[in-house]
Amino acid sequence: MPVEEFDWKAKWITKKDPKTFESNGDWMVKRFVQSYAMYFRKTFEIKGNISKAKIHISGIGYYELRINGARVGDKVLDPAQTDYSKIALYSAYDITDLLRSQNAIGVIVGNGRHIKAYGYDFPKLIVQIEIEYKNGKKETIISDENWKTSHGPLMENGIYYGEKYDARLEMKGWDEFDFDDSNWETAIVTDGPKLSPEIMPPIRVVKTLKPVKMYSPKDGIYVYDFGQNFTGWVRLHASGPKGTEIKLRYAEVVNSDGTLNFSTIRNAEATDVYILKGEDTESYEPRFTYHGFRYAQIEGFPGVPTLENIEGRVVHTDVERTGDFYCSNELINQIHKNTLWAQLSNLMSVPTDCPQRDERLGWMGDAQLSAEEAIYNFDMREFYKKWLKDIQLSQRSDGSIPDVAPAYNASFYPADPAWGTAYITIAWYLYWYYNDRSVLEEHYESMKKYVEFLKVNSENNISKLGKYGDWCPPGSVFPKRTPVELTSTFYYYNDVYLFSKIADVLKKSDDVDVYSQLAEEIKLAFNKKFLTPNGYDVIRMSPIDSGTGQTSNVLPLFYDMVPQDRKTDIVQKLLNLIVNDQDCHLDTGIVGTKYIFDVLSENGYADIAYRIITQESYPGFGYMIKEGATTLWERWEKLMGGGMNSHNHVMFGSVDAWFYKYLVGLSPIVAGWKRFKVKPYVTGDLKYVSSSVRTVKGNIKVAWERTNNFFKLTISVPAGCEAEVHLPILWEKYSVIKNGKEILKDGKQIRKEKEVIFVGQEGDRVVFDVNPGNYEFTIKMC
Ligand code: BGC
Repeated sequence: MPVEEFDWKAKWITKKDPKTFESNGDWMVKRFVQSYAMYFRKTFEIKGNISKAKIHISGIGYYELRINGARVGDKVLDPAQTDYSKIALYSAYDITDLLRSQNAIGVIVGNGRHIKAYGYDFPKLIVQIEIEYKNGKKETIISDENWKTSHGPLMENGIYYGEKYDARLEMKGWDEFDFDDSNWETAIVTDGPKLSPEIMPPIRVVKTLKPVKMYSPKDGIYVYDFGQNFTGWVRLHASGPKGTEIKLRYAEVVNSDGTLNFSTIRNAEATDVYILKGEDTESYEPRFTYHGFRYAQIEGFPGVPTLENIEGRVVHTDVERTGDFYCSNELINQIHKNTLWAQLSNLMSVPTDCPQRDERLGWMGDAQLSAEEAIYNFDMREFYKKWLKDIQLSQRSDGSIPDVAPAYNASFYPADPAWGTAYITIAWYLYWYYNDRSVLEEHYESMKKYVEFLKVNSENNISKLGKYGDWCPPGSVFPKRTPVELTSTFYYYNDVYLFSKIADVLKKSDDVDVYSQLAEEIKLAFNKKFLTPNGYDVIRMSPIDSGTGQTSNVLPLFYDMVPQDRKTDIVQKLLNLIVNDQDCHLDTGIVGTKYIFDVLSENGYADIAYRIITQESYPGFGYMIKEGATTLWERWEKLMGGGMNSHNHVMFGSVDAWFYKYLVGLSPIVAGWKRFKVKPYVTGDLKYVSSSVRTVKGNIKVAWERTNNFFKLTISVPAGCEAEVHLPILWEKYSVIKNGKEILKDGKQIRKEKEVIFVGQEGDRVVFDVNPGNYEFTIKMC
């Protein structure tokens, strides 16, 4: 139900002196002290007929709400993460039909990221119920010192830790009116953050997977393979003697003997323990943790389990799918599929780097690089709006923002510009793809402060910030070839340039002048500093190394920063690096990979982009897939050890946007798709491409196919839109059918249709302007 701003009267409550446990922490804070789950309850009676009852709730880190013995709503791992020193999000549920004359509310609250190690406290809860009676009377029930609290069967819990549930400790009926809570304590009132409605889509269990196989690599250990790396947990079904302890462990990969390989999850314990109460079949799934895994292991099972004893529960922020892409090349389809899994695995109320190891944080570089892909595939509006708010809240008075939002750790300040750019770049995307001006307005002053921070931290317009740069190129974590200074200055330019465009959208003409001028100055400084006779500068391998590198040249080409008289030369140098030096393979990290395919296509080399993408040899996407990847890896290498080696990172997923923007050829020309371009790149061995993208203006469908005799493009242009259709000029005799009627046949106009306007030739394309309708363009080969 919609959550609105509302007047809170309730108090934050917690349990005095909770029982705590110590476990591994994240990779920075090595040990965490966290609380056992807290159980809260409150009973109340209703006298009269109610017309409406609504509950507002937030429980941080995570809560599960129950009323009269039943779970309310289907959100899990709620509320969405925020910086709890500033804000917590609340949900609202309509509970009119759940109430009776005698009622009980029960809430379990777990740790999540609301923990001491991040500067917070133990779990806390706030609840307010508004009841309206048919006779017009109103009543409010709030959380306060009249609530009762206790620990219960759900004990230790933590995002990285997993959880432990002792079913023998279940308190039957604890969330019902008649339960005897005389041995429960009274809750205490505590302070807590300001509250704001949770508007973004919630995290849900979106799918249940059956394991594809089960085997036993060691006595008493059974391994389940789900055939897919994903985020979530397993649901266990078991029966056996009371007190039997069943342990579930999770991993992305297995060792050669079939046992789970825990190296890639590093410090994360990622273990769920369930202790049987000894009744018929018992079912259990965790509540306040999640794991990134393909394999799950069960230990301590009474007897031999079957494939039916375990199910995989796929969990992530439930964003709506808006994009669909399919083509005749199976490898490209598989890269698309892997990207979708990697993307969804990393939408956990913030865009995370990975779901399995001791990080899982809102790393901004990963998010900005994958954002366009995410926007083509999913409705990301509310998700990113909430996250931009997290970034805004994390901004310091000097204008700096962190690498990770919410930051949770002071060491993330100030951001590497390739990470910090998420703030301005994603705000721009929200405007560009969704026509959302309000987000630009809301963040304008903070973005300006950030741009000013970048300026203060530059010398002669060369950025002095940066630590990661073109992260994770082949064979390395740190950039091998691309100077961090170059990447940082590129993003300094990117942010100032986009900010000047934002100022333009908001009609702040003074700022337009100031920042477009500054962008020009950065461009000049960039060329002065990095442009050499041999191309853009690189990290030198030796004093006589005068070579250049892929990313160094790709970045200035992307923004047309290269002086006109050097452009052809730089494009040729880049081609040489790709084709001759690397045999059509990438030598880019996450930054270069985002731009290289666009740059090649815009400069007439979409065929090279296609070749790189469809390589099956190292380094490349095809290599990952051949080596068994079902998502995207953090590294171009197949690594099975610890360190920087996740098998489910989305930061190389930017390639998927290229499928939409170049293979389909679909992109906006003005903000919010009012006018858009369809310019398919008919390349490689592709025979057909089919896609649809649900935009704020409606559903746009584009498909093309080619045979030896013809090329056919079908497009549907939604009402209120215009499209520019760029057809390849390789053939002649164009025919156009609009809404089933022939308009142009073999190049001759046979109906006067002013909605299809032949604009002319542009380079190697023939351009038509079209209005809303369904079109079929056919070109016969001559
Ligand atoms: C994360 C990355 C992140 C990086 C910063 C890593 O530990 O997993 O994806 O962007 O740190 O360089």
